[in-house]
Amino acid sequence: MSAEVEAYHPGLEGVIAGETAICCVEQDRLLYRGYDVGDLARHASFEECAFLLLHGELPTAPELALFKKQIDGERELPGAVVEVLRAIPRQAPMMDVLRTGVSLCGNFSSAKSQGASNLLTRAVRVLAAVPSLIAVRLRILAGKPLLEPRPGLSHAAQFIYMAFGREATALEEKILNLTLVLYAEHEYNASTFAARVCTSTLSGLHSSVVAAIGTLKGPLHGGANEAALHLIDQFRSGPDARAWVEEALEKKVKIMGFGHRVYRNGDHRAFILEPYVDELAKARGEPWRAEVYHAIKQTVWDKKKIHPNVDYPCGLVYYFLGFPPDIFTALFVMARVSGWCAHIIEQHENNRLIRPRSRYTGPAPRAYVALAAR
Ligand code: ACO
Repeated sequence: MSAEVEAYHPGLEGVIAGETAICCVEQDRLLYRGYDVGDLARHASFEECAFLLLHGELPTAPELALFKKQIDGERELPGAVVEVLRAIPRQAPMMDVLRTGVSLCGNFSSAKSQGASNLLTRAVRVLAAVPSLIAVRLRILAGKPLLEPRPGLSHAAQFIYMAFGREATALEEKILNLTLVLYAEHEYNASTFAARVCTSTLSGLHSSVVAAIGTLKGPLHGGANEAALHLIDQFRSGPDARAWVEEALEKKVKIMGFGHRVYRNGDHRAFILEPYVDELAKARGEPWRAEVYHAIKQTVWDKKKIHPNVDYPCGLVYYFLGFPPDIFTALFVMARVSGWCAHIIEQHENNRLIRPRSRYTGPAPRAYVALAAR
């Protein structure tokens, strides 16, 4: 191999592995299709963001109404999928349930070809199915009757209704919507890349989303929001948290919810979400949780000069909203499936098989030894 071909970057760090018009991640900005994520977080619903990611432009009012109607039309799960959700052992993590559920739903999708309009149809189906899968599984685990979706609710409010059987409060709806907007898209992160690799072989949309769900599950990626809550939950005071983190960092333990492959000056999404940690801690009468949150953050900064990523505030925000920790990463899927599908469509439109090379580190060539002589 020539020296140029042999350029090697462990973990593909810093490698430009493809082009995208969907999202721009830089130190000083995060844009979805050119729109600043801060503006979207302030003004847009998740459904507007999903439309923007999938179609490239913000929807007009009639386009948005039609998009919501299409999603509402796909919320109900096939009976056979519900039966499988009942059959999965209780202790299975929600991310594994979701991986199986999305895979199963793919078999019920009638859109056969992978052309652009069929990909959009499948994208809407999977977008609608994910919150239903999480909600139905939660109802089954709680031994409660399943609820019919209520057309017309926002994506966030619909999930809360189908999972918990009550209307979302305005604050719950606003904050869940905000996290969905912040989680919707982030260029060539590990799960999106997995989806694009799968798509590049001309496999189907559901296969690509399943590959992405499996990739997001790990605690170095989306699984960090749940792991961050478990970390915070260990402590009841700032000084206790500080002492533990100092010792952990001495031992080179990774602190979940901190660090990022791209961001050096902090994660835009964490800055946007963080004020809600203090607001919700106060509203829920648990100010010590915010104290622990800030103590861990300050200690990691003092000792390692590392910022939190979006998963750090999000874990605690989801806790304050009353969601069980096992669904935190599944809620990330509920959002990111919009970005994954946008990338799957983009990959299809300008496809080339993604197939890098490896550097061989095994034994030098050697002669075969017959079985009897070994
Ligand atoms: N806690 C403690 N030290 C850390 C952390 C952390 N969370 N993250 C990075 N570091 C340290 C490393 O130990 C290393 O230090 P050293 O040079 O003294 O050995 C240095 O920072 C560089 O770290 P790498 O692991 O090489 O950075 P990389 O870019 O490979 O990792 C990653 C990025 C995986 C996100 C990492 O920061 C991490 O494991 N964080 C915790 C898990 C997490 O929060 N993941 C969510 C990411 S955001 C998302 O997926 C939505």
